[in-house]
Amino acid sequence: MGNARAGFVPPVYPFDRLAPIEKVAEAHEGGVVDLSIGTPCDPPPQIAIDALAHSNAERGYPAGVGSQRLRAAAAGWLGRRFGVEVDPKAIASCIGTKELVAGVPHWLRLRTPSRDTVLYPACAYPTYEMGALLAGGRAVPVPARADGTMDLDQIDEADAARALCLWVNSPANPTGDLDDLGAAAAWGRAHDVPVFSDECYAEYTWNGEPRTILEHGPDGVIALHSVSKRSNAAGLRVGFYTGDAEIVHYLAELRRHAGFMVPGPIQLAGAVLLEDDEHVVRQAAIYRHRLEYFAEVLAHIGVKAELPAGGFYLWFPAPESVAGERLVAEAGEGQEWAFTRFFAEAAGCLVGPGEFYGPPGVDHVRIAMVQPDDRLELVDRRLEAYLASR
Ligand SMILES: Cc1ncc(COP(=O)(O)O)c(C=O)c1O
Repeated sequence: MGNARAGFVPPVYPFDRLAPIEKVAEAHEGGVVDLSIGTPCDPPPQIAIDALAHSNAERGYPAGVGSQRLRAAAAGWLGRRFGVEVDPKAIASCIGTKELVAGVPHWLRLRTPSRDTVLYPACAYPTYEMGALLAGGRAVPVPARADGTMDLDQIDEADAARALCLWVNSPANPTGDLDDLGAAAAWGRAHDVPVFSDECYAEYTWNGEPRTILEHGPDGVIALHSVSKRSNAAGLRVGFYTGDAEIVHYLAELRRHAGFMVPGPIQLAGAVLLEDDEHVVRQAAIYRHRLEYFAEVLAHIGVKAELPAGGFYLWFPAPESVAGERLVAEAGEGQEWAFTRFFAEAAGCLVGPGEFYGPPGVDHVRIAMVQPDDRLELVDRRLEAYLASR
């Protein structure tokens, strides 16, 4: 049996690698302040909870593609937020967007077996690469330019010819950078490669208006959206994808055969959330405030973190030293691990080491603004105590 199992072995889940460091942070009075995983901490609006209780959608199977109301709500929101007109028939639901990101390469490969490559931003959400591996294919990172946009000119023609898709993510996790979605769409059309645009942080665009790739027309592009970050509803697991009607139809049909369905009550909750914008305006102000506040907390210990162009993460180079204390990484590790350990020890706070986001992320740190203000203030007080003790 041993040799028969010589294939794929799932790697350790990145955040599981933080377990020993979390223990150190947990030892602080008041416990760990976890700013590592980007999971919302604020409550979803009551309208979603009410919808779950009263949908009357438990008995029968839900539509895998999404209920009419959910698809209409998604189309309505795209119209209000981005000024794009989308036919609800070209919208399909997914069980949160992560499963779609992880599954798309495999499904595209079934359709185009001669292709095996996934192109994705070199410093990115890890699931783009994982999707390629789960399809038994190749993951080829695309480097970023200094302004944070993907340097599409660096894509090798041979890789383009083998590409199942190109991923673009704007605002980007972890960097917060905004990409040129028009350029990505044009590149995809010129190379006959579908472009998948992960826009789950669009509501939290700080520099300028939120953007969707759909502004550049639907041909050959798919936009992904989720209520997870928009509406503090990551636990519901509901998102949608839309764009090129032919690709949407192919994916929705395949997924129907495989039984991918958002549960009925959750479809209604997702619809109700997409029909409402007020809660998102409030949430954006909360994140904006936390980003500004925590950048100041870091400044108090001499660490410079620029505010991002979008998203709810601070992303910054890991410092060599803090308050005169040299932070020393272990052999083979990037500097971000030294900072992550320091921050757990000194502030009882868990952060995300940049290595999780690919080689360009090494020596960088990501801090997610996913704890209430009083917990962020606790980190500040702990750091003050640390400074005073030196
Ligand atoms: C860039 C990006 N895309 C997709 C997701 C997945 O979100 P969900 O599956 O909750 O829709 C995340 C979650 O952190 C993310 O950061």
